[in-house]
Amino acid sequence: MPIPIILDCDPGTDDALALFLAFASPELELRAITVAGGNVGLAHTLANALALTALAQAPTPVHPGADRPLLGAFRSAHDIHGANGIGGVRLPPGGPPAPGLAVDVIRRVLRESADPVTLVGIGPATNLALALMAEPALCARVAEIVLMTGAWGEGNITPAAEFNAWSDPEALAVLLRCERPVTLATLDLTAQALVTPKRLSAWRQRDGGACLRAACDIQDSVPASVRFAQRGAPLHDPCAIAWLLRPGLFTTRPCHVEVDLGPGPSRGRTVIDRWGRRGAAPNARVLETLDADAFFGVLADRLAALP
Ligand code: BDR
Ligand code: CA
Repeated sequence: MPIPIILDCDPGTDDALALFLAFASPELELRAITVAGGNVGLAHTLANALALTALAQAPTPVHPGADRPLLGAFRSAHDIHGANGIGGVRLPPGGPPAPGLAVDVIRRVLRESADPVTLVGIGPATNLALALMAEPALCARVAEIVLMTGAWGEGNITPAAEFNAWSDPEALAVLLRCERPVTLATLDLTAQALVTPKRLSAWRQRDGGACLRAACDIQDSVPASVRFAQRGAPLHDPCAIAWLLRPGLFTTRPCHVEVDLGPGPSRGRTVIDRWGRRGAAPNARVLETLDADAFFGVLADRLAALP
């Protein structure tokens, strides 16, 4: 039976590849795509989600959501993702958004589904948190929450914090406290999914359609990371999808995780207690290691299978 999911995103170069991976995966039943502002403003992230969905000829409805975090000001990451969020790559425009705002659609899908639904978040957690705050009883309809967020080591937007966690830490705190199983693909995990020039040129040599070409062009736009001595760029968001497709590619650890909500330089930091030093019960499963070659193998096969 395919896993029913709602995919909440902020495309985003790596979100784009995560969407393609989800579209190409029969293991998943994509009930809705909900979009927040994040990597760039909502106007761009929504247009990108619609364009990517149309390019993949996917029937999934795409809904707009929050254009800012629960508290505080919106800040983008256009230095990594380009002014349009997908590295300046121009895609044919998609269709119109489906009716309904993310906060309402997430609740409706949870309420109407015969089976519990998995929430996958690969952007700021605002839409997911708003839905569960508006109707907490629906937490019981959530099978699992899978997030690309946080880091047990250093951050990528501040020394302390990872971008998604830092963008809306209060929203992440809501999800960590909702008492449903939470799985985290952190920066330390996604560091193992490094797109090197060799891996990218292997994708380009595959037979494929417009989606494969778009994925290559989008990935080509991502600057090699100073964190990895410019050897490549980590591919964050597809790791969260890959966990649902191939959990055997990962090792995991139950941990207590708390997000720093203070106003200081650690705001948005995820304090991940890998060694149980605080004595608190685990509230998350943290993905620790990834079989990167197998992950990139699955990703390339799936990208090549799209239109
Ligand atoms: C996360 O932040 C965004 O820039 C990426 O799309 C990813 O979701 C990585 O820190
Ligand atoms: Ca993202």
